[in-house]
Amino acid sequence: MTVRVAINGYGTIGKRVADAVQAQEDMTVVGVTKTRPTFEARLALEKGFDLFVAIRDNIPKFEASGLRVCGDLDALLGKCDVVIDCTPGKMGAQNLDLYKLAGVKSIFQGGEKHDLTGRSFNSLSNYGDNLGADHVRVVSCNTTGLTRTLYPLHRDIGIDKVYATMIRRGVDPNDDKKGPMNSIIPVLKVPSHHGPDVKTVIPGLDIDTTAVAVPTTLMHLHSVVVKLRKNASTEEVLDIWDRTPRVRFVSGEDGITSTSKIMEMARDMQTSRSDLMDIAVWKDGVHVIEGTLYYYQAIHQESDVVPENIDCIRAMFELTRNNMESILKTNMALMI
Ligand SMILES: NC(=O)c1ccc[n+]([C@@H]2O[C@H](COP(=O)([O-])OP(=O)(O)OC[C@H]3O[C@@H](n4cnc5c(N)ncnc54)[C@H](OP(=O)(O)O)[C@@H]3O)[C@@H](O)[C@H]2O)c1
Repeated sequence: MTVRVAINGYGTIGKRVADAVQAQEDMTVVGVTKTRPTFEARLALEKGFDLFVAIRDNIPKFEASGLRVCGDLDALLGKCDVVIDCTPGKMGAQNLDLYKLAGVKSIFQGGEKHDLTGRSFNSLSNYGDNLGADHVRVVSCNTTGLTRTLYPLHRDIGIDKVYATMIRRGVDPNDDKKGPMNSIIPVLKVPSHHGPDVKTVIPGLDIDTTAVAVPTTLMHLHSVVVKLRKNASTEEVLDIWDRTPRVRFVSGEDGITSTSKIMEMARDMQTSRSDLMDIAVWKDGVHVIEGTLYYYQAIHQESDVVPENIDCIRAMFELTRNNMESILKTNMALMI
């Protein structure tokens, strides 16, 4: 079976997911939407994607710009088995009704609340719970990062309590409208939304989170403190992560002293768009002291959720019932 995939919202996440779908052998992109005839619409056509207009009244603007369009969102929904909704956060509720009406499955992103679908997804922690599901949310970039490193510890060692601080990039690199430019903005509500969000994919985990936004665009950084259930050494923790897919060690000793150095490494690796879909954990920043684990990790917010969207499609269409089989297949195709 080849799953026919539509991308609604061709922005930061949407264009990456489109490329990732196209790299798989068991799914194909049948079209992407834009609301405006921008350079991204032009480049989508140059890549060979069929272009649809999310807001029907805007079709004449595309035609005036000389961009060939195949119809509106309804036309695209008529051609697909699943739509990946990558529209700006909080548009999900109105879109879910459209997808249900069209009789297609849908995947939403972390800007939507868990309650929208009642199902949240992470490839490692709950793939099996979403087999055959019709409407699922892939959790946010921060939640994906926390889950990738906490779930294997929860499974193999046991966790009594997590305290994590998210130091969040202010905006994505392409954003020329929002800040902060010269401030650090704390989230005054505790826990920040991240802790409760992790519990949607690791039920029962005791986690509290705080968050601040800082004037940087490249990555988020997490400072995490974990009270382990069983005493384990730093080496045991490192060994678990070494065997965990999509977790990559970096090291200060190796010259990776900051998020900007991690992104320089990704550029040197010549990954697509210089993305880093792995979670980067500072190996020499991992310390277990009297049963408490301390570590730092960095999240490439523009790309870490991309492979999770691919695995989510496989779970929803039961292309494989085994999460590791899907993860390895996705990783191979995306050269992760
Ligand atoms: N960026 C991140 O760090 C990140 C990480 C993980 C998850 N997410 C989540 O992923 C989702 C998408 O975020 P993003 O960062 O990709 O946003 P984005 O870069 O702003 O892209 C969203 C795109 O949707 C398009 N759009 C706007 N209104 C639309 C409509 N009515 N119908 C269809 N398309 C519409 C816009 O393009 P045009 O108007 O030009 O067509 C825009 O480029 C959100 O839920 C977000 O929370 C984001």
